[in-house]
Amino acid sequence: MFSLGQSFKPVVGLDFSSSGIKMAEVRPAGKKWKLIHSGFAPLPPGAIAESQVKDKEVVSQALKDLMKANKVSTKDVAFSVNGSAVIIKKIQLATVSELELEDTIVTEAEEYIPFDIEEVHLDFQILNSTPENMDVLLVACKKDVVQNHMEVLQGAGLVPKILDLDLFCLGNFYLNVINPNWAKSQENAAIINIGASVTNVVVMCNGIPEFTRDHLFGSRHLLEDIQRAYDLNAEDALCLQTGLPNEAGKEIPQPPDYDSELLQPFLGQIHQQLAQSLDFYSAGHQDKPVTTLYLAGGCSLIPGIAPFLESQFNEISVKLVDPFQLIETGKESQPGGPLFGFSPRFAVAIGLALRGMSQ
Ligand SMILES: Nc1ncnc2c1ncn2[C@@H]1O[C@H](COP(=O)(O)OP(=O)(O)OP(=O)(O)O)[C@@H](O)[C@H]1O
Ligand SMILES: [Mg+2]
Repeated sequence: MFSLGQSFKPVVGLDFSSSGIKMAEVRPAGKKWKLIHSGFAPLPPGAIAESQVKDKEVVSQALKDLMKANKVSTKDVAFSVNGSAVIIKKIQLATVSELELEDTIVTEAEEYIPFDIEEVHLDFQILNSTPENMDVLLVACKKDVVQNHMEVLQGAGLVPKILDLDLFCLGNFYLNVINPNWAKSQENAAIINIGASVTNVVVMCNGIPEFTRDHLFGSRHLLEDIQRAYDLNAEDALCLQTGLPNEAGKEIPQPPDYDSELLQPFLGQIHQQLAQSLDFYSAGHQDKPVTTLYLAGGCSLIPGIAPFLESQFNEISVKLVDPFQLIETGKESQPGGPLFGFSPRFAVAIGLALRGMSQ
């Protein structure tokens, strides 16, 4: 069930995130991919927080409605978790076969996982090996967090088939969609997904996640500052920040000091967070410098964020990830469609959907 690999059977990708549930189902279309179902169910603040579903009834109902409204008949789903529910460690062990490692992984893991080993699901992937040693990616995920998501899925009549991490979905999305020619390219890519409460950072080199980190940081920090500074409720703060009207069509203009007092400092914080990860990565990987930074998640929609980050990081080209340009979509992603403007927020959901189909 906890799979770093593929199931080779279509699954619906479900990204349970703090702003809402993102749903995607894909099929191959020639050499590309086609989105056959997709949708977004917004959730009230706090329904999902800290990687946990806090209000199971609300989320389960929203999920049922989302699947029904989009006429999704596939029941098998892939879902992911992130943040403090997950520990990823790259460890070096004496070389043994995969089967042998399956038998000993729990004992090996006890040394590296700061949780009670009984309380986590464990998985591993052998990254590379010599006759003496091998690098192993060890992943532990808290059982209670997984169980929490499973109850919601089962409550909505769905069958959980694949559990993944946001970070690996982003890696998978990079390999299959952003740069399917990665094997021939010399690119060392950082895929960075800046959402509402978590920022995922994964560096992919030669098809392998060389570095992974979740920062508990996102637009929530900016939105809280906006609420405080201008005495607004959560909904109005979001309208001000995105420049988009709320459901009633009301617009909240950005005050003249918004850019200098709130937005620029927030962009500075994003840079600081990313620099922390990339400096840490560089220190251990001088032979594999990051060449390209791919930016996804809702915060990548902040105007000017890509040139800002490019000016901060020397020698790294910063590109926006636009999933709906990279895969075939229908009217839903066009102007007037329900997912217009959502594209970079769907990288994890599509990465999850690809788990069932891709090599
Ligand atoms: N058009 C836009 N312009 C600027 N910012 C935007 C825009 N649309 C969304 N955002 C920001 O992106 C956030 C949502 O991003 P995203 O969907 O990636 O987060 P999430 O996946 O729900 O969060 P998490 O995974 O951290 O729980 C919104 O809360 C908002 O702050
Ligand atoms: Mg997210």
